[in-house]
Amino acid sequence: MLNWDDYGKEEKATSAIIEKVIEPKPSVPHAEKSAQKEVQPVQQTTEKHASTIVEGSRAEAARKAVNEIDETAGNAELDEMMQNGRVQVDQKMMINCKADLNQLVPFKYDWAWQKYLDGSANHWMPQEINMTNDIVLWKSEDGLTEDERTIVKRNLGFFSTADSLVANNLVLAIYRLITNPECRQYILRQSLEEAIHTHAYQYCIESLGMDEGEIFNMYREVPCVARKASWGLKYTQEISDPDFTTGTEETDKQLLKNLIAFYCVLEGIFFYCGFTQILSMGRRNKMTGTAEQFQYILRDESMHVNFGIDVINQIKIENPHLWDDQMKSEAAQMILEGTELEIQYARDTMPRGVLGMNASMMEEYLKFIANRRLTQLGLDEEFVGVTNPFPWMSEIMDLRKEKNFFETRVTEYQVGGALNWE
Ligand SMILES: [Fe+2]
Ligand SMILES: [Fe+2]
Repeated sequence: MLNWDDYGKEEKATSAIIEKVIEPKPSVPHAEKSAQKEVQPVQQTTEKHASTIVEGSRAEAARKAVNEIDETAGNAELDEMMQNGRVQVDQKMMINCKADLNQLVPFKYDWAWQKYLDGSANHWMPQEINMTNDIVLWKSEDGLTEDERTIVKRNLGFFSTADSLVANNLVLAIYRLITNPECRQYILRQSLEEAIHTHAYQYCIESLGMDEGEIFNMYREVPCVARKASWGLKYTQEISDPDFTTGTEETDKQLLKNLIAFYCVLEGIFFYCGFTQILSMGRRNKMTGTAEQFQYILRDESMHVNFGIDVINQIKIENPHLWDDQMKSEAAQMILEGTELEIQYARDTMPRGVLGMNASMMEEYLKFIANRRLTQLGLDEEFVGVTNPFPWMSEIMDLRKEKNFFETRVTEYQVGGALNWE
């Protein structure tokens, strides 16, 4: 359990580093140098006293600056937001909102706040998962087949950078354009989770002693991985320009396309072949630590997808003119392009049957997922009559059904969240 002593230790350690790195040497004007020489012996003997004098003058300057603060400074920016007085629920909107975004409540989208709470209640860290068996298996001569080793490497290659692409898109493109505080709160939570996912992949790569340069460069060097990455990157580039703003039909649609690209395709389709392959490995008692990391990540990702789809559908409700026939057809096209890219990835990573699955089973699964993404956006299914060849994946996504999964960890985090006041 956490207590305040631990915080004290942490703070001391951090300060020690700062003291070492930053040692300001105030420059002394030439004219003052001779005067200073005369008092030098005193300074040497009472160094502590001298530093108090320096701090005293800094503190004085800080006090003066604080006394001169103009409480209305910065309010000009808020004026437009605040012209209707206190924030009312019906002023809140997903995009192009003029209400004050610094006020979290009153909530309009309770589902967004609930997702923030759910995500926070299920916090986890990669180092909690035991990787010992994975290390032994990975390093043994005949532990895994060549096809199984390819699957592990390709997926760590894809995911180790894909989660950075998602995180960058969140903080550099989406965050400032979503004009709702409870959704921003979830986006901040999601951003932390993406950082933890990248950490988890790095932790696997390091534990297994893989060639980091090879793995982290797959998104540029291995064609089936690079195609998926560059497909997503172009949507980030479109709206991450600091001068980009929404407010016209064209720019609102650009944001909508970015949301579809990242939530429905990157997180909603591009992750599914890899998740299925690694989790299938875990079900066969191979690379169980890596599979457990992926299992936690999949649980987080399915919440990210649901959040994104709720945001997209809310934007459609509030701005029905954006969801015209052209936009519907572009959205469907994006989902189908993503499905095709993921099918190619499946074929490349599974040239033969492996782990009780093969590329054509994966193709059917991906078409099943694509139909689901289309209908979640209110579009027609594309692939008639496909079924889910991996029903166990659906069960894993709803991890509360998994026996013992959070038996220890969640409890620890929930207790850890409350500091010990004694
Ligand atoms: Fe992620
Ligand atoms: Fe995600």
